[in-house]
Amino acid sequence: MNAVSPPSGLTTKTGLPLSLRRPRPSDAQDVWAYIQAPEVFSNLLQLPHPTLEMWEDRLKNPPPDSFSLAAELMLESGPKVVALAGVFPDKGGLRRRHVLHMGMSVAVEFQGQGIADALMRELLSYADNWAQCLRVELEVFSDNARAIGLYQKHGFVIEGTKRCDAFRDGRYVGSHIMGRLHPKADTLMTGFSTQNTPK
Ligand SMILES: CC(C)(COP(=O)(O)OP(=O)(O)OC[C@H]1O[C@@H](n2cnc3c(N)ncnc32)[C@H](O)[C@@H]1OP(=O)(O)O)[C@@H](O)C(=O)NCCC(=O)NCCS
Repeated sequence: MNAVSPPSGLTTKTGLPLSLRRPRPSDAQDVWAYIQAPEVFSNLLQLPHPTLEMWEDRLKNPPPDSFSLAAELMLESGPKVVALAGVFPDKGGLRRRHVLHMGMSVAVEFQGQGIADALMRELLSYADNWAQCLRVELEVFSDNARAIGLYQKHGFVIEGTKRCDAFRDGRYVGSHIMGRLHPKADTLMTGFSTQNTPK
């Protein structure tokens, strides 16, 4: 079954127990703590010194029909949310209902351990098997090699580049638009006749 029920038995590359679950408002403190690192917020379209209240509000009031996952590690000090990822419907209305946008962040000290990989697999399983999504798209700064490598590994391709797309730390930076189509787009209908007239 193509479930998006949280996979069990996950670990990071260094062997820490990892679980993926829907975020809760009480995760705001953990997310706020890691997202303010310059390596994280500056690669998102966010500003320095985010407020805890903003994250409480975001986690309490997610956009309608969005689907997010938090990655929680079991550390010696207790459970800690170290990553957040989600897919969000396009705002373009009826004709873009097949499109989801994706966003993702992992705490600096836990990057490179396969956490984004695990989140990506789960989000794409949701998009492919439950959300009637044909296209997942995202924008990524053109110099964010780590994120581009992750997205390419999961089937995204660079479809275009926006020059001087955003102002980041005193300079304009470009962004790539990346997209991934459902890997079985041409064989999604199974067991049905394509003729509409019942016999
Ligand atoms: C981009 C980001 C989400 C990756 O998270 P991560 O947990 O470090 O990634 P993973 O360890 O799961 O790596 C998964 C894959 O990404 C790619 N990758 C990771 N580090 C890479 C690097 N330095 N260069 C190129 N590709 C890299 C690889 O394909 C890797 O797979 P592999 O381990 O089989 O080679 C994380 O670095 C991050 O949160 N960055 C700051 C915020 C951000 O840039 N978000 C994306 C905005 S579009």
